[in-house]
Amino acid sequence: VIGFFQPKVLQGKKLLITAGPTFEPIDPVRGLTNLSSGKMGFAIARAAQEAGAEVTLVAGPVHLDTPAGVRRIDVRTARQMFDAVLPLAPEHDVFVATAAVADWRPADVSDAKIKKAPGRDVPVLELVENPDILAAVARLARRPYCVGFAAESHDLARHAREKLQRKNVPLVVGNLGPATFGRDDNALLLVDAQGEREVPCASKRALSRVLVQEIAQRLASRS
Ligand code: CTP
Ligand code: CA
Repeated sequence: VIGFFQPKVLQGKKLLITAGPTFEPIDPVRGLTNLSSGKMGFAIARAAQEAGAEVTLVAGPVHLDTPAGVRRIDVRTARQMFDAVLPLAPEHDVFVATAAVADWRPADVSDAKIKKAPGRDVPVLELVENPDILAAVARLARRPYCVGFAAESHDLARHAREKLQRKNVPLVVGNLGPATFGRDDNALLLVDAQGEREVPCASKRALSRVLVQEIAQRLASRS
C-alpha cells in the first residue's frame, strides 16, 4: 500500500537497526552461527524508511535484498557488529536491536583448516562471551531510544521484562521461537515499564508497521 504512513510518523528521525545472525569463525571454513533469517529486522527497516526515517541497517550474513532507500552495512561477527554500531548510535534517534548476536565466540581462531587424523582427539572449543551491543548502546550518554528483542522458547513475558531491566532499555519486543525463525509471520509481545501488550499473529510486514507506529508514539511522548 503506497502511503501507508500518513503522516510519516518518523519523518526527520534517524533509525539504526541490527538484523540477522552473526557468524563466529572457528577456522577459515567453519564457524558458529544461528537460525535467524533477518526477515523481521529487514521488515522493520523497510517500514521505518516508509515512515520517513533515515535508516541504517547493520546486517549479519543473511540472504535478503536491501529495502529501498536504506543504507546497509554488512558485518560477519558480533565484534564487527559492535564496532559498526557504537560510533553511529549517538547520532541516531532510535536503535532497534533485532540481531540474533552470537553470545559466544571461539577463544582462538585457527589460521588453517582444522584437520582430522587417525587417532587424533576431537577438537575442544573454548568459548568467550561477545560484547552486548544493545546494553552498550543503552549505556551511552547520548543514547538513542533503544528497542530490544527477546526470542524465547518459554516464559516470554518474564524473560522479556528481565531483559528490559538488565539492559536498561525502555521497550522490549518478545516473540516465541524457534518456531518463528525464517517464517513470514509472527506474534509479538510489547513489554515496557507500563505493562504488556500483545500484537496478534500477522505478517512480519504488518507487524513491523505496528512496531514503527509504537516506537514513533513513544518517541513523541518522550520529548
Ligand atoms: N543483543 C545484543 N548483543 C548481544 C546479545 C544480545 O545487542 N551480544 C541484543 C539482541 O539484539 C536483542 C536483545 O539484546 O535485542 C536480547 O537478546 P537475547 O539474545 O534475547 O538476550 P541475551 O542477553 O543474550 O540473553 P539470552 O540469550 O541468554 O536469553
Ligand atoms: Ca543471546
